[in-house]
Amino acid sequence: MRLLIVGQLEGHIATAGRIATQRGAKVSHIESISGALNALRNGQGADLVMCDVVLDIAELIESLKSERIIVPVVACGIGTDATAAVRAIRAGAKEYVPLPPDAELIAAVLQAVAEEDTTFIARDPILQPIMQLAERVANSDASVLITGESGTGKEVMARFIHRKSKRATGNFVSVNCAAIPENLLESELFGHEKGAFTGAVARRIGKFEEANGGTLLLDEISEMDQRLQAKLLRVIQERVIDRVGGTQPIKVDIRLIATSNRELEVEVQEKRFREDLYFRLNVVNVVMPALRDRPADIVPLAEYFADKYSVANGLPKRAISASALGLLQVHHWRGNIRELENTMHRAVLLARNNQIEPEAIMLSGQGLTPEKSLPANIAVQVAAGRTLAGNGPGSLVGRTVADVERDLIIDTLQHCLGNRTHAANILGISIRTLRNKLKQYGESGMPVPPASGEERAAS
Ligand SMILES: Nc1ncnc2c1ncn2[C@@H]1O[C@H](COP(=O)(O)OP(=O)(O)OP(=O)(O)O)[C@@H](O)[C@H]1O
Ligand SMILES: [Mg+2]
Repeated sequence: MRLLIVGQLEGHIATAGRIATQRGAKVSHIESISGALNALRNGQGADLVMCDVVLDIAELIESLKSERIIVPVVACGIGTDATAAVRAIRAGAKEYVPLPPDAELIAAVLQAVAEEDTTFIARDPILQPIMQLAERVANSDASVLITGESGTGKEVMARFIHRKSKRATGNFVSVNCAAIPENLLESELFGHEKGAFTGAVARRIGKFEEANGGTLLLDEISEMDQRLQAKLLRVIQERVIDRVGGTQPIKVDIRLIATSNRELEVEVQEKRFREDLYFRLNVVNVVMPALRDRPADIVPLAEYFADKYSVANGLPKRAISASALGLLQVHHWRGNIRELENTMHRAVLLARNNQIEPEAIMLSGQGLTPEKSLPANIAVQVAAGRTLAGNGPGSLVGRTVADVERDLIIDTLQHCLGNRTHAANILGISIRTLRNKLKQYGESGMPVPPASGEERAAS
């Protein structure tokens, strides 16, 4: 993780930096906001910015937003100046950290904000050949295409390959091709020169240059438009990029990993994805299995997430009861590991006793009301027989398609804790279509779950 500290902080920087370094972060320091903005534009990427409250944090956050530089900002200051802390949070800072720094607090912030978790649970035998393949290719510079349903751990696998590669000390940079509007993706990837288009207030280094010497993950590559696909092909062939509005090609040395949860071969057949690009990216294909095909991982993953969210919420760790585990093992897991993660996050918050019981386990298709009084075996049958929004089988008859679609969309979105990208993946629609639908529902007065924190930061 790369941490950028901004400000003077009266000598506390060294301590904060040392603590962060001990926790595995790469720390750099810049005194002014304009200096920090320049560094970020110039490809000195950061996963987290810690900024002194005496500086104009509002200006920093506004500039980052208008230039679409996506990085969380945490405010810090000497002592506990409540008004300064409130001002910083209002301006959009994620947290306020009082100084002198407390090692535990810095560690917690690093973990919560950057969420760089290197845990990789792979106990089911189906993962064995997959892990072997990943380890074998990691050390080469071959492009890797990781495919699999939504939430199966494609990004986790990409990070694993990076960590195992000779580029591990270089940057791991990821770009979600589905989440960035088409007209901005090119400059996000390749950067731009000052004045290249309206809003290009300064030169900006793109993700390809930021990943130089490291690994670039092109997430959801199937969503890239054809024009950009052609440019990407040239980059892969010639290992040079052109900044938007630039005049000279720039050499880059990167390892490319791409992911897709659509079948890229079908996209190629339907002429939506260039065949030549497909072959360039797909030197090695790592296929992540669906969670339902790796049953031996359900329990260790559930226990891992239960512990993780207990710690994150300051709650005591609780065991998961046998009947609750039974529910988890028979569920269909359409949203795969992410769905299990969200389910366990909710379970930790809902659990009342010293164990996580079935009533704290809310599964998709079950609406959002837990089955309070049902014994586990009945709850399992109910979960299996449920259709949309908590109604019994056959209950769709008599309802309009639009009506059912709306319930499905809202239910899925709630399930993904408001995360539009994940909900769109599970629903199998584009994020644009999802946004349009939600706008429509909002305008007709329906409550729509708010966007998740990470997406608010990105928008
Ligand atoms: N083997 C694993 N061990 C522990 N946690 C995992 C594992 N695989 C995935 N996760 C967790 O599950 C969640 C989903 O993983 P990830 O984002 O890698 O999936 P994805 O396939 O990229 O999803 P999407 O298609 O929606 O982008 C993440 O929070 C990740 O940390
Ligand atoms: Mg992903």
